[in-house]
Amino acid sequence: MSSIVDSPESYFRQLVPAVGPLLEELEQEARRENIPIVGPVVGTLLFLLARVAQARVILELGTASGYSALFLARACALNGGRLLTLELDPAMAERAQRNLERAELAASARVIVGDALSELPRMDAVVDLVFMDIEKADYIRALPHCHRLLKPGGLLVADNVGFKDADAFNRAIVTDPRWTSASLFSFLPGHSPEMDGICLALRG
Ligand SMILES: C[S@@+](CC[C@H](N)C(=O)[O-])C[C@H]1O[C@@H](n2cnc3c(N)ncnc32)[C@H](O)[C@@H]1O
Repeated sequence: MSSIVDSPESYFRQLVPAVGPLLEELEQEARRENIPIVGPVVGTLLFLLARVAQARVILELGTASGYSALFLARACALNGGRLLTLELDPAMAERAQRNLERAELAASARVIVGDALSELPRMDAVVDLVFMDIEKADYIRALPHCHRLLKPGGLLVADNVGFKDADAFNRAIVTDPRWTSASLFSFLPGHSPEMDGICLALRG
C-alpha cells in the first residue's frame, strides 16, 4: 500500500499554482505589511468554486488590498456577473480599487467602503456566493444576513475558521439544518496563517 509523501508541507509547496505578476506583487506587499491574505491556493480555490457554481453575484466581506477580490472578480467576469466587496478601511478599499483597475477587472467589481455589519442589513441583492473574511468574532453576526441574501443552493465560504474567535460560527453552521457545511483544517501554502480552517456551506 502506498504511504503519504515525506515532508508533506515541502511537497505541497511545489504544487502551488502560478498566479501571475500582479498577484505576486500583492503577495510580497502583504508579507511586508502583514496584510492577512488568502494566498495562491485559496485564491485559486475561490476562483474555481465561483466558476463551478457559475456565480454571477458574489459578495465578499473583507477586501483588504483586493488580493482575493481579483480571483473572485475574474470568475465574475467569466460568469457574466459582478463582485460586491465590502471593506471597512477607506485606504485599503482605495488600494483594492486601484488593483482591480490594474487587472482590468474594475467593470466586474464594486468596492464598497463600510462596515459589513451595518451594510448587510440594508442589502437586498440575491447572491450566488459569499466569501466571508472579516473579524472572526463577527462571523456569527454576519451569518443570518448571509442566509437571507444567498439564493437557495448558494455557497458560503468562510476563511480562517481555525481561529478561536470563529468558534460560535463553526458550531452554529454545523448544527443549523438550513446549512450543509464542511469545515476543513488544512495546510494552505501562502495563506495567512498557513495552517487554518476553511468552511464551505451550502444554503438550503
Ligand atoms: C483578512 S483581511 C481580508 C483579506 C482579503 N480577503 C484577501 O484575502 O485578500 C480582513 C479585512 O476585513 C476588513 N474588515 C474587518 N472588519 C470588517 C467589517 N466589519 N466590515 C468590512 N470590512 C471589515 C479589514 O479592514 C481587513 O482589510
